Amino acid sequence: MERSLVLIKPDAMKRNLAGAILARFEQKGLKTVGLKMLHMDEALAKRHYAVHEGKPFFNDLVKYITSTPIVAIVFEGDNAIELIRKTMGSTDPKKADKGTIRADFGLDIQNNATHGSDSPENAAKEIKLFFKDKEIFNY
Ligand code: RTP
Ligand code: MG
Repeated sequence: MERSLVLIKPDAMKRNLAGAILARFEQKGLKTVGLKMLHMDEALAKRHYAVHEGKPFFNDLVKYITSTPIVAIVFEGDNAIELIRKTMGSTDPKKADKGTIRADFGLDIQNNATHGSDSPENAAKEIKLFFKDKEIFNY
């Protein structure tokens, strides 16, 4: 059993897609064990996207991800990290496979609807950034 962090990003929030996106993951059998709405500040955005510091898109990425409140979810399931990445599709919605969240809901390479952790190490780190232990449930 694995856990992973998903963020429903500002472009999706602005288009009232949080419920539709949550449903896509639920339909894959992923269990919601943590869920909250929050407005990321610059400090949290820079920590969350620290691996991208120095890249040409970094400043725009921080501005974008802090532009509206978002929804953060901890999903649990077998192979959750890979299952979530597959369900989201490629970073660039134009290159994402048909039927994926980014193909169906993404607008462009930045405004791509969702974030999903890309490794067990990053999932553990990212979950800790957004959730206290008592905000994640066993049921
Ligand atoms: P994420 O971390 O959000 O799940 O996305 P990802 O792994 O598929 O892509 P990553 O390379 O980690 O990039 C993080 C986010 O930065 C924005 N981005 N913009 N303008 C650009 O060229 C560009 N490239 C990436 C996207 O919002 C991407 O999801
Ligand atoms: Mg990434």
